[in-house]
Amino acid sequence: MAKIKDIPKVDRPRERFLKKGPEALSKSDLLAILLGSGIKGKNVQKLSQQIIKKFGKNFLNITVDDLQKVSGIGQAKALQIASAISLVKRYYADEKTNEIVIKNSQDVLSLTYGLKEKKKEYLVCLYLNARNVLLKKEVVSVGLLDKTLLHPREIFYPATEINAASIILVHNHPSGDSSPSEKDIHIVEKIAQAGEIMGIPVVDFVIISESGHYSFYEKLKNQNKGFDYVADGVQGTLFDLLEIEKPSYEISAEKIQETYFHIPQIKENHFQLHNRRYIGNKYKLIKWIFSILDKECKGDSFADIFAGTGVVAAVASKHFNEIILNDFLHSNHAVYKAFFDKENWSREKINNIIKDYNNINGGDLDENYFSINFGGKYFSKNSAKIIGFIRENIEENKNKLTEREYYILMASLLYSTDKIANTVGHYDAYFKKEFIEDNFFMRPIDPVEVKAVSIFREDANLLVRQIQTDIVYIDPPYNSRQYSRFYHILETLTKWDKPELHGVALKPKPENMSDYCRVSAKDRFAELVNDINAKYLVVSYNNTYDSKSNSSQNKITLEEIKNILSKRGKTKIFEKDYRHFNAGNTDFNNHKEYLFVTNVNYE
Ligand SMILES: C[S@@+](CC[C@H](N)C(=O)[O-])C[C@H]1O[C@@H](n2cnc3c(N)ncnc32)[C@H](O)[C@@H]1O
Repeated sequence: MAKIKDIPKVDRPRERFLKKGPEALSKSDLLAILLGSGIKGKNVQKLSQQIIKKFGKNFLNITVDDLQKVSGIGQAKALQIASAISLVKRYYADEKTNEIVIKNSQDVLSLTYGLKEKKKEYLVCLYLNARNVLLKKEVVSVGLLDKTLLHPREIFYPATEINAASIILVHNHPSGDSSPSEKDIHIVEKIAQAGEIMGIPVVDFVIISESGHYSFYEKLKNQNKGFDYVADGVQGTLFDLLEIEKPSYEISAEKIQETYFHIPQIKENHFQLHNRRYIGNKYKLIKWIFSILDKECKGDSFADIFAGTGVVAAVASKHFNEIILNDFLHSNHAVYKAFFDKENWSREKINNIIKDYNNINGGDLDENYFSINFGGKYFSKNSAKIIGFIRENIEENKNKLTEREYYILMASLLYSTDKIANTVGHYDAYFKKEFIEDNFFMRPIDPVEVKAVSIFREDANLLVRQIQTDIVYIDPPYNSRQYSRFYHILETLTKWDKPELHGVALKPKPENMSDYCRVSAKDRFAELVNDINAKYLVVSYNNTYDSKSNSSQNKITLEEIKNILSKRGKTKIFEKDYRHFNAGNTDFNNHKEYLFVTNVNYE
């Protein structure tokens, strides 16, 4: 057996370290230096190779006991190694707490302070991770800022390289005036759209000058100062804000004055009702819808009978004393019971339960229904184990919770699950990935205050025969895409009857298949309109009947809707251009949204 002293001096780990630095050494060489000497019959290099091989990737988690099981490692050597590992871990932990978290425009300013003195125009990009921690700061362009010269690639290429979750742009105005120029506004629009397509949202565009600063995010949120960004993906992006604020809609009726409307404020670490991805949700159109509603309809009660996310009903609850919410999906129903119901619940109790859930380590859990079916596909294995475990636990503890608490936990789980899904936003397919991040973290939902509410899970056509309200808002599916199939995982998680699943997408047997997605849509709509007992009927629809993709084509034409509604009263039609982005695959460019308002009592 060669002893260390038999190895020529230059090849020995210590000498190599001194001459060429630590990068020139293998892991076992480094460990050999730490151990210093071997044992009888096993030189120090053999001993370290044996340890590195035995513990492999688990090296950083080895304990003194584990080490002592290796022949030749006594307590002293085991302690030496374990202490070195702990020391390194401690420094890494300290480094993590030194992370720069960007919470608001003031944090942006303190990072880019020197820019305001520059004589040339600069565009600087801050790349952030999902917790708004700064990953990288880079100058993207120097010289006059021009939309035609600036290519989104320059901004987004580094973002994809370092896996940034979002970006913030900072620009200086050497003129001393920080208000945005027309060029700035065009650039913001272009970059915000590119960010939306790339899936790397642009959180803010801040202009700084000697005289102060201007934050698009703050201005679009109608706040003057200090309005915090929200970390963890529930951030309102510039794209969203521009879409909501865009005042350029056309209406075919008289001009509508914009009116006050309320969107719940985003609170850090709580899910708001609109913080989920849902096809056809009206969040971005809500200001437009209520501008028209406030002008055209009078009344005290409002029913949202195809409520989807419930965002329309949430805003309606600020305008009307009584609201009704309905959707035939189980998951949507659970969400309404959580966000809107009036029943008692304890915030402290919910927070404590969620805190305990967040301490669960997926590695310690056995497989369960959710992880067996969806782990490694829609979610990482560990995240899926935790989700399944929590869902089971909510069910087991149902009798210790009020009904509201049960649904609040369920909705918090649904929102937290949806947020990390390895999909484009629905569950018709998942991305084929080698590695899916273990990033499940449960956050509570933040309920909506309402005066009076009734919640149903009914077929809309049956429900309208039982209710009477001043305004009925009708937002059915427009094409053949069935919501119950697109959101099947949320349905399966809510119902928790653990059905047998089929196909690559792992769907259960069909349930709640909507006639509005079939050729019978027109007849069902005519029946519905005929059966409604209300003063006003308000219908949302769009014009995708010309779409190239069959599944996107409308089931009812605008003409048919108008004719059916006109039988109940005078009907006005309002239209709005709607920008629609889908990863460069836009199959329909001339997308318009329509709102039909029928005054049933009109003579
Ligand atoms: C276009 S989405 C509504 C979007 C909603 N306005 C929002 O802002 O989120 C249509 C909704 O109708 C529901 N739905 C479809 N057919 C239904 C039916 N026959 N009865 C009740 N709900 C139905 C779907 O589950 C889906 O949530």
